[in-house]
Amino acid sequence: KETVVSGIRSTGKLHLGNYYGALKNFVQMQHDYNCFFFIADLHSLTTHPTPANLHGNVRQVLVEYLACGIDPELSTIYIQSDVPEVTELYLYLNMNAYVGELERSASFKDKVRGNPDNVNAGLLTYPVLMAADILIHKATKVPVGKDQEQHLEMARTFGNRFNRLYNSDYFPEPFAFTYATNLVKVPGLDGKGKMGKSEGEGNVINLSDEPEVIRKKVMRAVSDGGPTVENQPKPEPIQNLFDLMKVVSAPDTLAHFEALYNQCAIRYGDFKKQLAEDMILATAPIRERMQVIAADTDYLKKVAAIGREKGRESASKTVREVRELIGFRSF
Ligand code: TYM
Repeated sequence: KETVVSGIRSTGKLHLGNYYGALKNFVQMQHDYNCFFFIADLHSLTTHPTPANLHGNVRQVLVEYLACGIDPELSTIYIQSDVPEVTELYLYLNMNAYVGELERSASFKDKVRGNPDNVNAGLLTYPVLMAADILIHKATKVPVGKDQEQHLEMARTFGNRFNRLYNSDYFPEPFAFTYATNLVKVPGLDGKGKMGKSEGEGNVINLSDEPEVIRKKVMRAVSDGGPTVENQPKPEPIQNLFDLMKVVSAPDTLAHFEALYNQCAIRYGDFKKQLAEDMILATAPIRERMQVIAADTDYLKKVAAIGREKGRESASKTVREVRELIGFRSF
């Protein structure tokens, strides 16, 4: 069986972008592959969470993983900071990651633009830590959304450089994976760009949002005065709403509103109502399971402990072999 690794940063509630970009694939893949799904709490440190927030957010993601259907009997679920071997491999990989290429990464440039007062070195080397996450289990498939594509390319670069430096073929090449035709990019509700927390709460639909909240957010989503000429391409905010409908609604629902749009007969009120109801249908079972799982601290502890054990077993084997390749010898 091929090995799969993926993680989600613990920075708060998970949203539809995380679900359709990543989690939905996680759940499906666990039947076919040897899967490791972790909670990227070390990556969340770039934005300096308080100790209480850090723990609460890790717990939140763990609950959401389980509620979405990741099964600890099938997959290894662990918390990144519980597996310190990852940070050791990160250090080794940092030795052949070049500052120039890290500075040129699109996500780093975005972060610098978004928060010029907090350009810490952890942000710069973020893709190296991510490569360590993947290479530590010698994974070949990484289920992620479109926004992570460049990071996967960097992970391949760092793994290949290590192989070349130590004259080995130790690390296999990891590739982004999805069961969909293309890597998924779920748009937000603000009319521009992807769904993401940094764009504000009104831009995202969380898996834990109550039906009323979902309806309100969708009704407020950016739209326009409606089409006036038949069969024209859609402006970005409208295309985004259609793209959202494409991920949550049935194909004939989408086709119905596409046809209305093309005939200039669409009523955005009806369209948004349908979109909101389909989002509610998609998320309600997850939200309900979250409430049950969140109340069971003993279960969460057990899952984290088992995952830690299995995660470390795999990771320590890699680190042992990597040390050997690098030339560390004990006296
Ligand atoms: P993060 O925490 O930002 O997002 C987690 C996953 O959700 C996907 N995603 C989206 N997909 C489609 N549309 C969206 N609007 C959207 N928003 C988020 C992301 O593509 C991702 O798959 N660096 C990673 C976490 C990470 C990781 C790893 C992933 C750390 N180490 C190793 C894979 C392997 C990140 O920040 O994702």
